[in-house]
Amino acid sequence: MKEKVAQLKEAAGISISQAESLQQLDEIRVKLLGKKGELTEISKGMRELTPEERPVMGQLVNETREFISKALEQKNSELKEKEKNERLAQEIIDITLPGKKNVLGTTHPITETMDFMKNIFIEMGFDIADGPEVEKVALNFDALNIPETHPSRDITDTFYINHDVVLRTQTSPVQIRYMQNHKPPFRMICPGKVYRPDYDISHTPMFHQMEGLMVGENISFANFKAILTNSLKKIFGDTEVRFRPHFFPFTEPSAEVDIQCAVCKGKGCRMCKDSGWVEIMGCGMVDPEVLKAVGYDPNEVSGFAFGMGIERVAMLRHGINDLRAFFENDVRFLKQFK
Ligand code: DAH
Repeated sequence: MKEKVAQLKEAAGISISQAESLQQLDEIRVKLLGKKGELTEISKGMRELTPEERPVMGQLVNETREFISKALEQKNSELKEKEKNERLAQEIIDITLPGKKNVLGTTHPITETMDFMKNIFIEMGFDIADGPEVEKVALNFDALNIPETHPSRDITDTFYINHDVVLRTQTSPVQIRYMQNHKPPFRMICPGKVYRPDYDISHTPMFHQMEGLMVGENISFANFKAILTNSLKKIFGDTEVRFRPHFFPFTEPSAEVDIQCAVCKGKGCRMCKDSGWVEIMGCGMVDPEVLKAVGYDPNEVSGFAFGMGIERVAMLRHGINDLRAFFENDVRFLKQFK
């Protein structure tokens, strides 16, 4: 029996020292010291010993149990330390690695230009109005005094949803909606999307306009010219502005407004087709027929209206020469604007 205990002690020492994980060490503990463990099995042999031998063997067994327990304990802390170090090595943070960038988007140049223009008109006391992009023919054309036979009503110039409903081709119907719901005097602008079936270097099927309308007593062409000239100078810097007579069914008299070409400063270039001027908006005194259609008395109130293309303004402000770039969503293009 003494032999067996000695062998067990030696074997235990070896297997404990070779344990590679805490789990393995626990298995060894059960195998040696558990209820059905090897040392317990050997101790059962005590029954066969003489009374003199028993205490001696008892002491030997106890010493062995203690030896094994200590060895297990020591190995246990060794393995714990080792596992901790391995975990730390895995979790190591390399502070020299580049950080993760917080990539922020940029404001789309159309939105940026629209906000910029809105602020200029807000400063002058204009209200911001809104209207639907899917619009009634009655408001997109009829109420604006546009005749049944006008070419802009053709299916080649307008997206029809059905006979009575279109994708609005201009922001001008918002004038009608606004007048139906407000009493003069007022001044408003309406920026928004409009739709026409066109696609080339200077046309996209969706683009943006900003409509303006000011109605009240004694509003004259002189007021109108002053306000628009002033706004255009705020938008484009100190530029020359000229008014050319034109025709729109919903204004009388009507004009188109040009600004001096920002690219060549009036000398003539590709942007302005060698004229030195770039057309920037349509405008005019609101036609009495339009005022009547919304229930105003043209003898009491008058007003002026204007409409301009926002893409055109953005192109001139940022020196962009292809309209389509705005809608291709190439991040390299969009990133250049704040
Ligand atoms: N709606 C016109 C267009 O899309 C632009 C325009 C011209 C608007 C004259 C107006 C205006 O309010 O008075 O071509």
